[in-house]
Amino acid sequence: MTEPGPVSRVALITGASTGLGETLASHLHGLGWSLVLTARTAADLTAVADRLSGRGGTVIAVAGDVGDAAHRERLIAAADSLGRLDWLVNNASRIGVSPIRPLLDHPAEVFDEVLRTNVAAPLALAQPALPALRKSGGLVVNLSSVAAVEVFPCAGIYAASKAALDQATRVLAVEIADSGAGAVSVDPGDMRTRGYEQAEPGFDLSGVPGPEVTLPFWEWLTERSADEVNGRRYQAQSGPWEPGPR
Ligand SMILES: NC(=O)c1ccc[n+]([C@@H]2O[C@H](COP(=O)([O-])OP(=O)(O)OC[C@H]3O[C@@H](n4cnc5c(N)ncnc54)[C@H](OP(=O)(O)O)[C@@H]3O)[C@@H](O)[C@H]2O)c1
Repeated sequence: MTEPGPVSRVALITGASTGLGETLASHLHGLGWSLVLTARTAADLTAVADRLSGRGGTVIAVAGDVGDAAHRERLIAAADSLGRLDWLVNNASRIGVSPIRPLLDHPAEVFDEVLRTNVAAPLALAQPALPALRKSGGLVVNLSSVAAVEVFPCAGIYAASKAALDQATRVLAVEIADSGAGAVSVDPGDMRTRGYEQAEPGFDLSGVPGPEVTLPFWEWLTERSADEVNGRRYQAQSGPWEPGPR
């Protein structure tokens, strides 16, 4: 009888249709991970999933809004169908009004949308993901920003959302310490992405690196145990990454 082969590691990545999410998905796929990917625009997401699965491996694309509870249930069910979960990467993010404008020039409903996407949804996904993450020794990876710690005009509600997510990540890390799973914040640094281009259309991004600049960090993180990194906040473009502040 043939022994079953090792089950590949599994990542659920939100906002995987472009930018950093797409780059990380492609990188983990190249390392043999199985993937559950999501973003709202089905055509963009399917294009990424088809490109990756054309090279082999398992890629499940589930289009939808991470702010929608029924969609989050579908994402967790997709991860369950793969038998394990190693990373929940909360990467999907809203900047607010794009192009960016001053805090109080935002329609009030945009405040709710940004906080729902950038803070509430990551936590609401972490909740049902944690049993599987505990089993695998896995990680909740929450994407942060320098805007969480420094003050930039016009980044107001986005900055507040990332600061809130950082603090929630620290609290979660303490609450799940020694459970097997861990939680980290990652500030990826400036990257030339669709989101950045749309937020600041007149800004010359030619000197800003693409999201590939963060790959050495992700490679490093794949080799760490949850216990080693739990509660830390990393800057992906500023290695060496250990030890980091808890
Ligand atoms: N780019 C930078 O310089 C920079 C700097 C610091 C931090 N970051 C952080 O790094 C992460 C990635 O940034 P990026 O620039 O690569 O982002 P991006 O180009 O704006 O892409 C965002 C991704 O999230 C998806 N998305 C947005 N809202 C969603 C929702 N409600 N539900 C599901 N998917 C959603 C988008 O697809 P749909 O629109 O089709 O849903 C897209 O796939 C973000 O958390 C961002 O805050 C970026």
